[in-house]
Amino acid sequence: MANDILNLIKQRRSIRNFKKDKVSNDFILKILEAGRYAPSAENNQPWRFYVITKEENIETIGRHCQIAFLNSFVKEASFLVVLYTNKRHRFVETDCGLSAQNMMVEAFSLGMGSCYVGAFREKEIKNFLKLKDFDRIIGVIAFGYPQEIPLAPERLPLETIARFDFKENLKTVQKSSLIRNFFKSGFFSILARSFREKAHKES
Ligand SMILES: Cc1cc2nc3c(=O)[nH]c(=O)nc-3n(C[C@H](O)[C@H](O)[C@H](O)COP(=O)(O)O)c2cc1C
Repeated sequence: MANDILNLIKQRRSIRNFKKDKVSNDFILKILEAGRYAPSAENNQPWRFYVITKEENIETIGRHCQIAFLNSFVKEASFLVVLYTNKRHRFVETDCGLSAQNMMVEAFSLGMGSCYVGAFREKEIKNFLKLKDFDRIIGVIAFGYPQEIPLAPERLPLETIARFDFKENLKTVQKSSLIRNFFKSGFFSILARSFREKAHKES
């Protein structure tokens, strides 16, 4: 059970290339349900979801997410969730982020892809959706069936982001990272990446 969740978390990718296929309402509701069950400070649930499914509306919001060369894929999504809030407490962004991750992992478990979009023209989207002045858009999440799944962007090695207050585990982490770092260095890393890309293209 725990490992299944870890696999889902590790395999989920940000998808920026969607098929034309529509997502069923049933799946959309399951995704929102995952978002609704996220933890939040004092169970405040500051998230609000504006679900956008009509092509012309996706197109308009997609246009407002296009900033320079970024985010042109948003208008190709099957549906969008505009994640907004009318709350102002200090944990609002944390809460909404947790809710977003729940929705993206649920979408992945249903065979869909998603991408969190943090760069957008807030005022324009607020006007378009007729949100209140006090409302704040936290993010836009694009959902749809993936056309292609990109390689996983590298994560920082555990030893650079975690510290332990017990030595035994630290030693195990350091030992395995020494070996990993050796193979990741220079020539090995280029070789490994080209093998991964070749295998990815052939799959
Ligand atoms: C707060 C936040 C803002 C993001 N904004 C954008 C964005 O505007 N455009 C985009 O293409 N991806 C955006 N992303 C997606 C990240 O680029 C992506 O999660 C990261 O590169 C790791 O890739 P992965 O999701 O496939 O693991 C955003 C992610 C987060 C959490």
